[in-house]
Amino acid sequence: MPDKAIALENVDLSLGRGAARVHILKGISLSIARGEAVGLVGPSGSGKSTLLMTMAGLERPDSGRVLVDGTDLATLDEDALARFRGRRIGIVFQSFHLVPTMTALENVALPLELAGDPRAFDRAQEELRLVGLGERLHHYPAQLSGGEQQRVAIARAIAPNPAILVADEPTGNLDERTGEQIIDLLFALRRERGATLVLVTHDLGLARRCDRTVRLRSGRIEAETTSSTA
Ligand SMILES: Nc1ncnc2c1ncn2[C@@H]1O[C@H](COP(=O)(O)OP(=O)(O)OP(=O)(O)O)[C@@H](O)[C@H]1O
Ligand SMILES: [Mg+2]
Repeated sequence: MPDKAIALENVDLSLGRGAARVHILKGISLSIARGEAVGLVGPSGSGKSTLLMTMAGLERPDSGRVLVDGTDLATLDEDALARFRGRRIGIVFQSFHLVPTMTALENVALPLELAGDPRAFDRAQEELRLVGLGERLHHYPAQLSGGEQQRVAIARAIAPNPAILVADEPTGNLDERTGEQIIDLLFALRRERGATLVLVTHDLGLARRCDRTVRLRSGRIEAETTSSTA
């Protein structure tokens, strides 16, 4: 098995059409070791979410390569890429992306059912308890607060035990105490299951707990800091 969980080699990416086309990622090279926790920081609009989506195979670069577990994502067609993601990568989106017509429990059970887990609903219930939502199993996203929706999104991402978890502002809408609990949960996932974490965050407490922080500015890596406590 390759020791790198994720490697980006000279990645460029533009999004949008015509006059709205924006060159977002510019010559990004970055490699993340298996089991490493990396915090992605930088100003609004610097390309953090786009970089995360590129690592997760949800955006394809215009040039350069993205390797996940040694597999060049460009060699996979859309179906193969979706299967690859489903097996290995958990994604927490900045805007949660919950299915509005499904309850919290159904949202979390969905990827487990897709993976053929016969205990999908039991496991989904356990994960929701872990994020403190044992009393909200049958609520729909619209009936949950922003922070609660965020916790459902986290439960959904970690339920299938992904080897790689990418999360966009996982503590962004949470109070300090709930945020701490979520951080503990993410790092327990790493400790107990050896998962690699890539976390976009403005939360200095969360960034400090990562092994390394990578700072973006205008689509380029501006600085990297290795944490002294790592
Ligand atoms: N589909 C798109 N079409 C055109 N431009 C886009 C598209 N998606 C993002 N952008 C632009 O790319 C830049 C980077 O966006 P991105 O969402 O990656 O930033 P970010 O660092 O995550 O910001 P924030 O901290 O506000 O979430 C922004 O200027 C944004 O307007
Ligand atoms: Mg963002």
